Amino acid sequence: MLGLSRGKELVGLDIGSYSVKAVELKSKKKDGAEAFEVKKIGYELLPHDAIVEGTIIDSAAVVETIKMVFEENKIANKNVIISISGNSVIIKKISLPAMESQELAESIIWEAKHNIPYPYEETNVDYAILEPPAHAAGQNLDILLVAAKKDKIANYSNVISQSRKNLEGIEVDVFALQNIMEINYPEIFPDKTLAIINLGANITNVVIIEKGIPQLFRDLSLGGSFFTENLSKDLNLSFDDAEKLLKGLPVENVQPDQLQSVLNMNAQNLLEEIEKTFSFYEAGEKSDKKVEFIFLSGGLSKLKDLPGYFEQKFNIKTESLNPFRKIDFDEKKFDPMYFEEMASLFGVATGLATRKMDK
Ligand SMILES: Nc1ncnc2c1ncn2[C@@H]1O[C@H](COP(=O)(O)OP(=O)(O)OP(=O)(O)O)[C@@H](O)[C@H]1O
Ligand SMILES: [Mg+2]
Repeated sequence: MLGLSRGKELVGLDIGSYSVKAVELKSKKKDGAEAFEVKKIGYELLPHDAIVEGTIIDSAAVVETIKMVFEENKIANKNVIISISGNSVIIKKISLPAMESQELAESIIWEAKHNIPYPYEETNVDYAILEPPAHAAGQNLDILLVAAKKDKIANYSNVISQSRKNLEGIEVDVFALQNIMEINYPEIFPDKTLAIINLGANITNVVIIEKGIPQLFRDLSLGGSFFTENLSKDLNLSFDDAEKLLKGLPVENVQPDQLQSVLNMNAQNLLEEIEKTFSFYEAGEKSDKKVEFIFLSGGLSKLKDLPGYFEQKFNIKTESLNPFRKIDFDEKKFDPMYFEEMASLFGVATGLATRKMDK
């Protein structure tokens, strides 16, 4: 989307508020079908407060971190695709009667002006037709309308050019996640209803996909940093100690039951927000809508027992989304343990890296 073309390999670069992740893939044939292998991979933490509420505040720090990810992991490819999410990105599903492309473009502009809560002039608008035009004339087209605030795009483009990389495409997190789900779970993706929940530091992306077609997108302002803040407030700890506790590491003078009660409370808040999104979807026009599988991704999804919390609340099978389930890596070059441990952090970056540009 937003100016993407196809052909040559790109580095998928996921600039989160907590960490920067980069993945480069190689295309190959496997059993006669198109497949991918990891060529390069890298991860670096960002300094605290470099990105606040989705805005890059300390661009020098972000540039330095991006450069470090590339240098330390010997990523020579400068052509990157990034993704954005949060409040400044609006995704709307609209339905329009089938029409000629010129007419369709005009209708989409009209829809964008009426559906997007920002002045049209301040946004970049793109769209994708969800289903191929129906054979029968007069049938509606389902269209995904994506509008991103221009200042958000400029904010992110700037750090890419300052990092001396070429920005070849901008996606949104939820599309990258949908992509990586499709590649890795071919036995589920085409005919089940599933929710992908990407739990980051400040944003939780939720997408509900029904038989391969996305139905609902939400970016919730929730994530691991709220857990850390509450742990530090409620248990009177430094941010670093709170972070350690969240990751399951020991911290002196903390009572396990106290810790558990703060974690439970935060997890319940998170689950309630996600429940609202599920209810909104299930209350749609068809009464038989039901999420059948939940796939978790993102740093906070590593929280101990989190899939269990989801299963208990929703009674829906919940597992971690493994972006490398069907993507190979050379065990002589990479440690399989790294992939196992880091899998939940690389959903977006790997989904981005499956996109290609013109040669
Ligand atoms: N082992 C772990 N257990 C629990 N939480 C963890 C663990 N590892 C990291 N986290 C938390 O996950 C969050 C970071 O996740 P991630 O790297 O996916 O975020 P991000 O993509 O940088 O942020 P965002 O997209 O929200 O801006 C942090 O809040 C961190 O504390
Ligand atoms: Mg993220």
